[in-house]
Amino acid sequence: MADFWRPEMAVEQISTLQHEVLASGFDLGGLRLRNRIVMAPMTRECAPDGVPTAEMANYYARRAEGGVAMIVTEGAAPNEEGRFGRNVPRLYGADALAGWERIVAPVKAADAAILAQVWHVGAFVPSMIGMTDSLDVTRVSPSGLAAPGRLIGKAMTTRQIARTVRDYGQAAREAREVGFDGVEIHAAHGYLPDQFFWSASNLREDCYGGNIAARCRFAAEIIAECKAQAGSDFIVTLRLSQWKQLDFLAHVAESPEELSDWLMPLMKSGADGFHVSTRRFWDQAFPSSEASLASWVRRLSGRPVIAVGSALMDRDFKAEGGKQRGDLVPRTLRWAAEAIEDGEFDLIAFGRALLANPDLAQRLVSGDVTGLRDYDRGYLDELK
Ligand SMILES: Cc1cc2nc3c(=O)[nH]c(=O)nc-3n(C[C@H](O)[C@H](O)[C@H](O)COP(=O)(O)O)c2cc1C
Repeated sequence: MADFWRPEMAVEQISTLQHEVLASGFDLGGLRLRNRIVMAPMTRECAPDGVPTAEMANYYARRAEGGVAMIVTEGAAPNEEGRFGRNVPRLYGADALAGWERIVAPVKAADAAILAQVWHVGAFVPSMIGMTDSLDVTRVSPSGLAAPGRLIGKAMTTRQIARTVRDYGQAAREAREVGFDGVEIHAAHGYLPDQFFWSASNLREDCYGGNIAARCRFAAEIIAECKAQAGSDFIVTLRLSQWKQLDFLAHVAESPEELSDWLMPLMKSGADGFHVSTRRFWDQAFPSSEASLASWVRRLSGRPVIAVGSALMDRDFKAEGGKQRGDLVPRTLRWAAEAIEDGEFDLIAFGRALLANPDLAQRLVSGDVTGLRDYDRGYLDELK
């Protein structure tokens, strides 16, 4: 019980949580961030035919005015076949880009940075999770698979790979033109770049398949192309995870050595940082040490790292009931602050806690945390 949030102990608790660590500024590849608190990307499917709306602009502006240092937007598609559904925003087309411009301006006016998350689903389609595919497109992936035994799409030809890489680059260039500070390549959770990383979904025998260095080639080309098209000073981060939507226990790297081989080509191609997605950010990554995956990525890459997964939450978003609700748990905040102080990672992202509390960051930074709301599924039904 003592570990749970009680209003009468909130102020005292936040000060012992070393909130000054969370309040300290940070430099992400030349981008100055006012504190260590990031908004995690969250798909809302509220963009009719892919065009971001005024409601979305208000929703993001509230989190920026609420003190987050940086927003990573919900996933936005770089091309037609990469879209999850019709109401997921596009990062191409004049109408969609104009919509993004109306989102970015107020966010930056509120002194927050903003990265567009570029999300290509590959062969992971809505039907995989019991939804209807609202798009009539041929889905593609490295070998047509989204996961072992889940043949949905067509294996990409090298020509299709080259075109897709160019689409990512164009999305980055246009993101820059509408004011974004950078892009985050969604290379986690079993989507397209991760379908290349994961040996179980990448059975290719050309230069994009084989050992981990070859399986990284697609993502490495994307990073390089984004830099080439948008400029070398445009921030390009990568979201990575071991777990996949279709296999929570999957591993791309079984050891720190394999993780190092995974990161190396991505660093060489110019990644400015990594967003390490775990279901619980403090979980041990490998049997050989207690360190978390974020901490290993920080150690092996030397690049800025954002950790995410159950910050402030009593259950992870893939756990039973985790999508429905989540109670606030202050001790996870202390763990995040301590990890940042110890140099294990640099930034902590919040998902559900920020849906429930648009002013979460300001409250954490100021220490006034009374009245923060637990997470409830109902917040997903409204874009506020
Ligand atoms: C409604 C919802 C939508 C999400 N959409 C995305 C997404 O578009 N891209 C992504 O990388 N992760 C997505 N995620 C995962 C979150 O970014 C985050 O990793 C996850 O919620 C764990 O953080 P939390 O425990 O703080 O909520 C989504 C999560 C939720 C709850």
